Amino acid sequence: MLKGKHIILGITGSIAAYKAAYIIRGLVKSGAEVQVVITPSGKEFITPLTLATLSSHPVISEFFSNRDGTWNSHVDLGLWADAMLIAPATASTIGKMANGIADNMLVTTYLSCKAPVFVAPAMDLDMYAHPTTQQNLEKLRSFGNRIIEPATGELASHLVGKGRMEEPEKIISVLDDFFNQKTTLAGKNILITAGPTYEKIDPVRFVGNYSSGKMGFALAEASAERGANVCLVAGPVSLDCHHPNITRINVESADEMYQVCVSRFPEVDAAILSAAVADYKPEHVAEQKIKRETAGDMMLHLVPNKDIAASLGQIKKDCQILVGFALETTNGHTHALEKLKKKNLDMIVLNSLTDDGAGFKVDTNKITILTDKGETIAYPLKSKKEVAEDIVDKITEYIR
Ligand code: CTP
Repeated sequence: MLKGKHIILGITGSIAAYKAAYIIRGLVKSGAEVQVVITPSGKEFITPLTLATLSSHPVISEFFSNRDGTWNSHVDLGLWADAMLIAPATASTIGKMANGIADNMLVTTYLSCKAPVFVAPAMDLDMYAHPTTQQNLEKLRSFGNRIIEPATGELASHLVGKGRMEEPEKIISVLDDFFNQKTTLAGKNILITAGPTYEKIDPVRFVGNYSSGKMGFALAEASAERGANVCLVAGPVSLDCHHPNITRINVESADEMYQVCVSRFPEVDAAILSAAVADYKPEHVAEQKIKRETAGDMMLHLVPNKDIAASLGQIKKDCQILVGFALETTNGHTHALEKLKKKNLDMIVLNSLTDDGAGFKVDTNKITILTDKGETIAYPLKSKKEVAEDIVDKITEYIR
């Protein structure tokens, strides 16, 4: 999958820089074109001559060439790349990337790069474990960068611990898997609902719930990254999505979400209904703000909303996959299976509010997938991004 891919390899000042030579060799052997960008301290550890020879391209380090004044455009480089890999990435470069300190060619290229970014940290165990490094890595993850975790072993300091840059073959296989995965849902259309719905009481009040939309947005990103065209129907959330394959439609109420889903569903290969749709809405919406003095005791008469999942289950064709969610507080398994059958779903993702780290607002989730084929697959607690990957893996299996 690396054949013909344009890879920027960023090298920083670490003893692991020698491994970059093997990375270039492996990438070039797989048919990739490699452009090295090295920091000034990286050059203390490995010579540009070695890197230029292996990559068949002059190594870029400065903003312009001292010899003839040629300008090295980090913007053009960022646009040229199919992926950027920073290996080894020191704590210092990770910090600069996380905080936009663009004082060298490598970091300016990173900031201009629209392609996916992979970071392979290399440092001493205590530097790696330091909260600053961990916070910076977390920040990079939140930008969508992929961290290739360092291995545990003997370090340059002769201490033993986590911080050793992952081996070149492993790093290359991460990139290869990425490009491989990118095509698994190519040409497929996926509808995803996310977030809560708000049901109006009057112009300033609503009935709603605590859903943050994080799970649905992670599913949209994971599907888009595999090449799917995603229609993301989002309730009121404060989240952004950036992937060009995602078309976002903002809605507020369950009725609006229902309208969009029913009209889009016939065109899609799969629908993932992760929204926490309000089950009820006020029967009447007050045109003006309800005043405390005039209302006295307040009774809200609520009527049921349409069940989007069940409605799509009724019109579902054999070639379409319908995936629902069940957030339960008791008898999760039984309720989830009932919903799977009642709504004619192919798969249901169960998460229990009683599990620590699962449910609304948090960045993690612990799920069990139940399928119409009778499978029950329980997963450990993971980040919502990783959970999204697991769900999309399972859907990909079904679509195939
Ligand atoms: N769902 C939906 N439309 C609704 C209610 C739920 O599409 N009006 C979907 C959810 O997005 C989810 C699945 O149905 O994928 C199950 O939602 P959940 O709220 O757990 O189930 P309900 O059927 O509403 O049952 P209850 O709230 O009584 O547990």
